Amino acid sequence: MSTPASPRKILITSALPYANGPIHLGHLVEYIQTDIWSRFQKMRGHECTYVCADDAHGTPIMLRAEAEGITPEQLIAKSSEEHQADFAGFNIAFDHYHSTHSDENREFAALIYNRLKEKGYISRKSISQYYDPEKEMFLPDRFVKGTCPKCGTEDQYGDNCEACGATYSPTELVNPKSAVSGATPVEKDSDHLFFELGQFADMLKEWTRGGHLQTQIANKIDEWLESGLRGWDISRDAPYFGFEIPGEKDKFFYVWLDAPIGYMSSFKAYCEKSGLNFDEYWQKDSKAELYHFIGKDIINFHALFWPAMLSGADFRTPDAVYAHGFLTVDGQKMSKSRGTFIMAKTYLEHLNPEYLRYYFAAKLTSRIDDIDLNLEDFAQRVNSDLVGKVVNIASRTAGFIVKKFDGKLATNLSADAQALYNEFAAKSDEIAELYEHREYGHAMREIMALADKANEYIAETAPWVLAKEEGKEAELHEVASMGINLFRVLMSYLAPVLPKTSQDAWAFLNLENPVWDDVKSPLLDHEITKFKALMTRLEMPAIEKMVEASAQSLGTKSVPDGKKDDTKPKKQKVKAEKNMSNDNNNGFDALAETISIDDFAKIDLRIAKIVNAEAVPEADKLIKLTLDIGFEQRQVFAGIKAAYNPEDLIGKQTVMVANLAPRKMRFGISEGMVLAAGPGGSDLYILNPDDGAKPGMRVK
Ligand code: MSP
Ligand code: ZN
Repeated sequence: MSTPASPRKILITSALPYANGPIHLGHLVEYIQTDIWSRFQKMRGHECTYVCADDAHGTPIMLRAEAEGITPEQLIAKSSEEHQADFAGFNIAFDHYHSTHSDENREFAALIYNRLKEKGYISRKSISQYYDPEKEMFLPDRFVKGTCPKCGTEDQYGDNCEACGATYSPTELVNPKSAVSGATPVEKDSDHLFFELGQFADMLKEWTRGGHLQTQIANKIDEWLESGLRGWDISRDAPYFGFEIPGEKDKFFYVWLDAPIGYMSSFKAYCEKSGLNFDEYWQKDSKAELYHFIGKDIINFHALFWPAMLSGADFRTPDAVYAHGFLTVDGQKMSKSRGTFIMAKTYLEHLNPEYLRYYFAAKLTSRIDDIDLNLEDFAQRVNSDLVGKVVNIASRTAGFIVKKFDGKLATNLSADAQALYNEFAAKSDEIAELYEHREYGHAMREIMALADKANEYIAETAPWVLAKEEGKEAELHEVASMGINLFRVLMSYLAPVLPKTSQDAWAFLNLENPVWDDVKSPLLDHEITKFKALMTRLEMPAIEKMVEASAQSLGTKSVPDGKKDDTKPKKQKVKAEKNMSNDNNNGFDALAETISIDDFAKIDLRIAKIVNAEAVPEADKLIKLTLDIGFEQRQVFAGIKAAYNPEDLIGKQTVMVANLAPRKMRFGISEGMVLAAGPGGSDLYILNPDDGAKPGMRVK
């Protein structure tokens, strides 16, 4: 293995996922982005360590464990196992995965807190907060619910209203209730400890403009710094699942105090097993590099609080915090009801993880823009780039090497062939720069441009024609050997993104692990093994199955859509068919079978505002509606074209079935159904709610 003259010592982290929920595709944007960077640095021969951990503390984890009838320790043990299985499934190669509920973390949290306290960075102040008198606990904002003080929508969280977007404090809610017990909360005073961020204003001004942050973020932080830094409340009263604060009674560190310290603790645990030197990476004047990959929602913790804590406690600060945007699916926020809130586990049950790694890589940049997983584009990209372009090169040429040349590659190349090879190898530095700067999308485009070139070469030289002609053996040997060599260069460039496929490719090439600089010279006079398909096409039905498996109703259970419902009793089905075939009904269907109130309650009907309506040109009955149901937008295809002009519908309110399983139609996914009366055709009337009904209100 070639090692650079001066290998860098690099420590990389991804944010620590909360232990109270499963890993989903949104999370994976981050872990895949970081893993690609870590694998890339390792391939370059640097001493790179990638650590992570479960974020195990806090009220939600405490309450979740209680609801499941287990201890928090049991809950976090289970989560840790599940998270690690999901990460392994996506070939995320942490060097160490720890937990914030660990001895190392308890010690570092105490050490850092004590140092901050000694230096006078910790203050104490009494604050008044909502308290649940039944449950005997203080309530975090998200655990108080009530009526929005601005728009009057019921059942809103204590920090903001999902209907009108207003933000407020929980004490402003009308008719507040504890989400834990249902009791009416009372205001109660208690002492809290604060980390005096204001004392770090100068340090932070310098640090945030010191090239450690993306421009977009540095600008945002400037705004925060301008408006002044307040103390940060780092204590929580018992009962709380976390670390007790040294020297205090019944007070615990707020989860976000010990969460980033988890980066140090995970690394510390890794040092114990690997022999790396902890201080070399964390002491104040460390020459080692430290990078945190995070999502844009947790910037303040990583770009303000964390550097201030580290600096105040005499540790080094990060070289950079790299934030990424949020994942949307088909242009919208991930949604449980649409089936686009896809768990890592569900994905793995249906699709190859390498597909997603490649798709995210193709979309990722160094910026914090959101990235969209468009399901059709996903299939198309994977098939055309990976299967159609890259893997194809090997599958078109390997057979000749094995059958005609005993598996041996040519011993030398003609000047022309060598020149083409050099062109591929010469891209190495440029592509490395792109990986280094997290411009993965750009890197993928460069690699695919090379793949196009390789395919052109094969099409022009046509080895399958050479194979049939007399006296062309040497030419065929060179062309096929070139095919394998160009494939090797491409797979080498793709190895950080496609670890499993490249591993299989390296087995096929009969080589050790890929190292970045290996591609400088071609592989000649070398025996390869028989080619086996490295990757199969990504078929749309597999994606659809995954979406179906992910679809959940707004409530707890999904209401099956009539078509695929095999749970419905047979009798009822027959009757429904009879009703439908009854032509002689003057527009009035016969009454359907009686249902219970529970059956009715399963149907989630919502007031929907039609914000857009377009005729579907290819379908004579359909109008595509965009419906606003307050907390999200839905796309629904409705068979009402004969009855309405699309323009006339825009701005109207109607009623929709919001928990109908999403259905894949020829023109896109239909995410629900609008209600209409009448026999059909032009004789059809959508329902209009009375004035005062607002989008998202439940119809019951
Ligand atoms: N526990 C905290 C992080 C503590 S770090 C000291 C946390 N956990 S999280 O599970 O909510 O998120 C973990 C990471 O995943 C965060 O960086 C977050 O931004 C990222 N993502 C979570 N959902 C995401 C999307 N939908 N899209 C992209 N990234 C997302 O925050
Ligand atoms: Zn409101």
